[in-house]
Amino acid sequence: MTDPLIDRAREALTAAHVPYSEYRVGAALRTADGSVFVGCNIENANYSNSLHAEEVAVAEAVKTGHRTFDRLAVTSAARDGVTPCGMCRQTLAEFADADLEIVCDRGEAADTYTLGELLPEAISESTLDAASDQRGGSQ
Ligand code: THU
Ligand code: ZN
Repeated sequence: MTDPLIDRAREALTAAHVPYSEYRVGAALRTADGSVFVGCNIENANYSNSLHAEEVAVAEAVKTGHRTFDRLAVTSAARDGVTPCGMCRQTLAEFADADLEIVCDRGEAADTYTLGELLPEAISESTLDAASDQRGGSQ
C-alpha cells in the first residue's frame, strides 16, 4: 500500500541493529507541522539495554523541540502488523493524546489504531497531580 509515513518507517528499519532477535523494527513519527522523525531498534548484548524503534523516534523528535504528534507508522521486516509494545505505548502517551493515530504495516494493508485503544487508562502527569492534591500537595 502507499503511505508515505509507512515508507519512512520501512526505510528506517534498514539501520536496525538486531544481532540477537534478528527482528528489524522501524518507526516514523509525524509532528503537527508535518516533520517526520524516524527510529529503528538498537539491541544490546545486555538485552534490557535495547532500544525500541518507537523510543528512538520519540527521542529524535523531542530532542529538537518537537512534542506534538499526530501519526505514527510502525513496521517490521516481516510486515506482520507489529504494534508498539506496552512500554512504547506509555512512552508515546507522555507526549501524545489518546487520538494519536498508529498505523501498523501489513505489507499490502495496514492496521490502524488510536493510542487510546492500545493503551486505555494510561498513567499521566494528571494521575500524579491528582494524587498529590489528595495528600494536600505537600508530600
Ligand atoms: N521492538 C521494537 O523496536 N518496538 C516494539 O515496540 C516492539 C519490539 C523490538 C525490540 C527487539 O529489538 C525486537 O523488536 C524483538 O522484540
Ligand atoms: Zn517497544
